[in-house]
Amino acid sequence: MGKILDGFKKESIEIALKTLEEGGLVIFPTETVYGLGANAFNPIAVSKIFEVKKRPRFDPLIVHIGDIGQVEKLAKSFPPPARKLGEKFWPGPLTIVLPKKDEIPEIVTAGLPTVGIRLPSHPVALNLLREAPFPVSAPSANSFGYLSPTSVYQIEPQIKQNVDIILDGGQCKVGVESTIVLFEEDKCFLLRPGGLPVEDIEKIVGKVYPLTPSKPLSPGSLPVHYAPRKPLIIFENFKMIDRKKFGKIGVLFFKKPDIPVEGIEKMEILSEKGDLREAASNLFSALHRLDNSDVEVIFAEAVAEEGLGRAIMDRLKKASTKNLIK
Ligand code: TXA
Ligand code: MG
Repeated sequence: MGKILDGFKKESIEIALKTLEEGGLVIFPTETVYGLGANAFNPIAVSKIFEVKKRPRFDPLIVHIGDIGQVEKLAKSFPPPARKLGEKFWPGPLTIVLPKKDEIPEIVTAGLPTVGIRLPSHPVALNLLREAPFPVSAPSANSFGYLSPTSVYQIEPQIKQNVDIILDGGQCKVGVESTIVLFEEDKCFLLRPGGLPVEDIEKIVGKVYPLTPSKPLSPGSLPVHYAPRKPLIIFENFKMIDRKKFGKIGVLFFKKPDIPVEGIEKMEILSEKGDLREAASNLFSALHRLDNSDVEVIFAEAVAEEGLGRAIMDRLKKASTKNLIK
């Protein structure tokens, strides 16, 4: 059973470091979601991540660093526009995919010639990563396909049981996973919308291109991902839902509804005033609460696909696919 330690204490960081050095698994907070970490240069430790998460081996892991200078040890090249992004937005919710150096074990990158690198901004993550003599590979700390945890309370029992240490760093402020970009020469491609709005990236590198089928494995590209156990249906107009057709329903509103809402079992509002940042930070917590309540179906309100709305809609669509294909 993973021991929960106060991540803000120096001795907790020391214990976590020792655990990682010995090939153990440490859950640590980042500003996006909690990560399930292992020493990226220890392939046996990394293989435990895949086992605990029941994650397919073809899905590569992000490598976390504490200093931008570490990129040179991991990547064969760091093209100028990519470097500019790192300098501007790191530490922060951005992952940059670069050509990998041979020293990184194949299991980390699932055999791909590239590696995703991220420098998170959460103080506990930074304390850990700056002290660690190795980079830390970490996916989100949930079982494969399920919702990512944004506080220690949302970590699933079977994950808790199979890790060594859990560093508690409170609630994650951004609340959705990092934005992932890939560079091909100087062209920037979006692999996953996330906590850093694409509009902010475009201000630095110009146009960001959507992923095309010719590109290598795209993150979270499986149709169902980030999904609650309950079926989830996206709606645009609450009035259009025929509630007689469903049993107990839970509703995830983006903002405070301006019509009276009756006949629902549970309601969550992501942001009273409709702020996308606030909504993103509450998204996974609200979905966890709905999933753990006794509602039978979750209805989620669509948001505009701009700024952080793009990441929110990406997660909702992935969570809902199983209904659409039913
Ligand atoms: O915010 C985040 O990114 C969190 C925190 C813990 O850092 N991590 C996270 O990891 O969301 P994970 O494993 O749940 O999602 C990472 C995604 C995966 O879908 C994977 O396919 C993609 O990143 N990825 C990693 N390396 C890649 C690479 N070399 N090329 C393409 N995609 C990559
Ligand atoms: Mg994940």
